[in-house]
Amino acid sequence: MEAYKIQQHKYDVIVVGAGGAGLRATFGLAEKGLKAACITKVFPTRSHTVAAQGGVAAALGNMGEDDWRFHFYDTIKGSDWLGDQDAIEYMCREAIPAIYELEHYGVPFSRTDDGRIYQRPFGGMTTHYGKGTAQRTCAAADRTGHAILHTLYQQALAHDATFFIEYFVIDLIFDEEGVCRGVLALDMNEGTLHFFRGQAVVLATGGYGRAYFSATSAHTCTGDGGGMVLRSGLALQDMEFVQFHPTGIYGAGVLITEGVRGEGGYLTNSKGERFMERYAPSAKDLASRDVVSRAITLEVREGRGVGEQKDHVHLNLMHLGAEVIHERLPGIAESARIFAGVDVTKEPIPVLPTVHYNMGGIPTNYHGEVVQKKGDDVDSVIPGLFAIGEAACVSVHGANRLGSNSLLDLVVFGRAVAHRCAELIKPGSSQKDLPASVLDKALSRFDALRNANGSTPTAQIRMDMQRTMQKDAAVFRTGETLQEGSKKIGDVYDSFKDVKVSDRSMVWNSDLIETLELSNLLPQAVATMQSAEQRHESRGAHAREDFPDRDDHEWMKHTLVKVDDNGKSSFDFRPVHMYTLTKDVEVVPPKKRVY
Ligand code: FUM
Repeated sequence: MEAYKIQQHKYDVIVVGAGGAGLRATFGLAEKGLKAACITKVFPTRSHTVAAQGGVAAALGNMGEDDWRFHFYDTIKGSDWLGDQDAIEYMCREAIPAIYELEHYGVPFSRTDDGRIYQRPFGGMTTHYGKGTAQRTCAAADRTGHAILHTLYQQALAHDATFFIEYFVIDLIFDEEGVCRGVLALDMNEGTLHFFRGQAVVLATGGYGRAYFSATSAHTCTGDGGGMVLRSGLALQDMEFVQFHPTGIYGAGVLITEGVRGEGGYLTNSKGERFMERYAPSAKDLASRDVVSRAITLEVREGRGVGEQKDHVHLNLMHLGAEVIHERLPGIAESARIFAGVDVTKEPIPVLPTVHYNMGGIPTNYHGEVVQKKGDDVDSVIPGLFAIGEAACVSVHGANRLGSNSLLDLVVFGRAVAHRCAELIKPGSSQKDLPASVLDKALSRFDALRNANGSTPTAQIRMDMQRTMQKDAAVFRTGETLQEGSKKIGDVYDSFKDVKVSDRSMVWNSDLIETLELSNLLPQAVATMQSAEQRHESRGAHAREDFPDRDDHEWMKHTLVKVDDNGKSSFDFRPVHMYTLTKDVEVVPPKKRVY
């Protein structure tokens, strides 16, 4: 192995990723006097949060009656009773101060006539425990993620956080006692290696949407944190739950916000029918995403799709009028024009369910601390390691996330991690001496990949993985397709042993970076397919045609999955938290989920 020169850095806390969660954590840590470094593979304001459109949920009650307890109930129902109710209570209650903080930091929210934050309806968001429609989603037109991300980056800079931009984190570094002590990273610009030491590492690396062929996720969404966690021998949680957003632009996969339906847009089939009336008589187009995605898939399957291939449906917003579209939905008007050639004031948008979000991820408690099952302790904390945002599974979304609870999750748990670190870490306290050999494993893996000289290009293995996931871990699943998918994804995993990296350079070598990313995606693709195969029920986004009902007796539990170096999964389970943090809310017992 080449003798790499390693540059050393010491901070109180290392944050990996500069999306909404990473930036909220970074600036929260700096605000509390901790020396924080944020390491990011893309320029912060290019992180995928920038693409979030419709808004962020919080029961502010600006547009009519609302209460965070209604939000708590909706989120549990949306999760199909797989969400942890203590964490959901925390998120829905903290949503209100977290959004007012954002407002004060400078997020340019849209406004009501009397100057308050504008809020729109979103799927599954109700008042009075399912009786009315809540207007709960705080919006900055249809560019809410963009507005939040820019504000958080400005705040992080104002609070003197340090950024390492265009650095790719290769692996987590643990000491011999299993405490996370830092990360090894590659400066892609200079081609140099760096060991970042910290009292804590916060993974805010986003989802792994790019395990699929068609996703609303950016090409950078390669689940790097989840990959590192699996390689460290730790388990991920609930990986079978992958959200398909009902309205990706047909053929392009680009997101058309649920906010369109929140503003009054609706779906139609080839007969011009508003088919959601049949599937969700009460909520209709504003049912939760799993319900709407399944309805579209069934319409297409039963021959009522539109277009030459009859393989998609229409999203109509012409009736909203140019003024509303211009004021509330300017971004999607532009996307529809560019990616579908459609003038939304005159024609419907062709749409299809598209992979959008990973409910599963790195298991954490509501402080953002990574937890694992150890003996009788199902929530044993891994010292020094935190995870937030889409990389994490707190679990507040359970089997299905409600739209606009994602931006909320980012800011609430980014903030929670900053609070927790401030409780646990004294600024500037000394850090344990580590032997030089602590980096050996990470360095030898990096060196092996850099010099990989097989016969299969990274791009081909990635395409094989994406096609397999798209076909066999789809909106509807059966034992047969999942068995076939598990075998195929296992073969794809094995083919990585034969990967070829054509360029050995460490400077701006996209082949090397894409290979490192693929090494993170692949075990998560395996975990997703095999977790889906072993869950014999339908719950939220996991719809098994051979097990069409939810089975609370057997399956109201979280899946914990590890993937070994040979691509073999092993499973364990932990109970759903059916308790709350305070007496302000009562546990919501499972019942039939209808919209
Ligand atoms: O539809 C949307 O605007 C997406 C929001 C979300 O995923 O939370």
